Amino acid sequence: MTFLFNSDAQRGAVFGEAFAHELPHLPFTIGPGTVAPADIRYIITWSVPEALERYRNLDILFSVGAGIDQFPLTAIPPGVKLVRMVEDGIIRMMQEYVTLAVLALHRNLPAYLDLQRRREWRALPQRQAADRRIGLLGLGVLGRAVLESLKPFGFRLSGWSRSGKTIEGVATFSGDAGLGRMLGETDILVCLLPLTAATRGILNRERLAQLPKGAALVHAGRGAQLDSLALLAALDAGQLAGAVIDVTEPEPPPSEHALWAHPKVLLTPHVASATQPDTAARAVIDNIKRYEAGLDLVGLVDRTRGY
Ligand code: NDP
Ligand code: OXD
Repeated sequence: MTFLFNSDAQRGAVFGEAFAHELPHLPFTIGPGTVAPADIRYIITWSVPEALERYRNLDILFSVGAGIDQFPLTAIPPGVKLVRMVEDGIIRMMQEYVTLAVLALHRNLPAYLDLQRRREWRALPQRQAADRRIGLLGLGVLGRAVLESLKPFGFRLSGWSRSGKTIEGVATFSGDAGLGRMLGETDILVCLLPLTAATRGILNRERLAQLPKGAALVHAGRGAQLDSLALLAALDAGQLAGAVIDVTEPEPPPSEHALWAHPKVLLTPHVASATQPDTAARAVIDNIKRYEAGLDLVGLVDRTRGY
């Protein structure tokens, strides 16, 4: 039974070395066509490989990424487990990005960049961190890690998830009513939700209008969660003061899209975080060891929830 690495060869080389060391009993191959499909037990891939049905002894499909919305769940046989990426490198990079984005908005960076372009030397009013309310949409692996990295600054923290949570130093909310309450008390909203039927379009005109006037948005979930025209309208109307946007629908946005040049928007090309081969190989190896020992898989996707 073989492990098939179905992604870029550079990452594959790092995985291959770690697998040879840690799982010497498990043959490892890069790219389909190198072994008989019936011999493949595990695949790691960005999206569903071609003709998945030929891997008739497949047990686990590992996603290279944390998000699994690119996998049409109906195309994966019910007996095959889908596992998203949970690894230290991706977590650390997301902590860096969201901290950077929150601090940029907290310290009025988009407005100062605009003043610089206009050669204006002028201080803007500055709120203290203890008066700034940060609300996280999504309290999963990434959302919770981001909250931990924001704690030392002294912001007022809150978070929203599907199921109720208790997190020290964080006001938590769930359900539709909980979302409305949190939005009404959030100055910088950070979206780290997975894309599902329930979260598609969640950042729409009505929800952006529920934020206090002058609030800001950090969006690093998935582009299809945000109505970008509603965002631009909210920025132009002064309802929102700024936005840091890492994900769009489509990616990239068309060249004429107003997101590219809006003075209140900092736009990055889906780089908030990325799977790091060394730590990801470690995580997948640990997961295979867990699976072979009969333990639960870390990051197992629940098909009914869609994440
Ligand atoms: P997790 O599955 O660990 O966490 C998801 C969180 O979202 C959970 O708290 C879950 O609630 C909550 N959630 C899901 N659906 C709903 C809903 N309908 N209503 C309320 N809360 C909901 O995911 P990760 O933290 O690992 O990753 C989150 C997302 O970040 C990824 O799916 C991906 O889209 C994005 N991402 C973006 C990257 C980038 O570079 N821009 C890089 C990596 C990831 P509950 O806890 O109750 O289950
Ligand atoms: C991911 C991403 O989901 O990079 O891992 O967006």
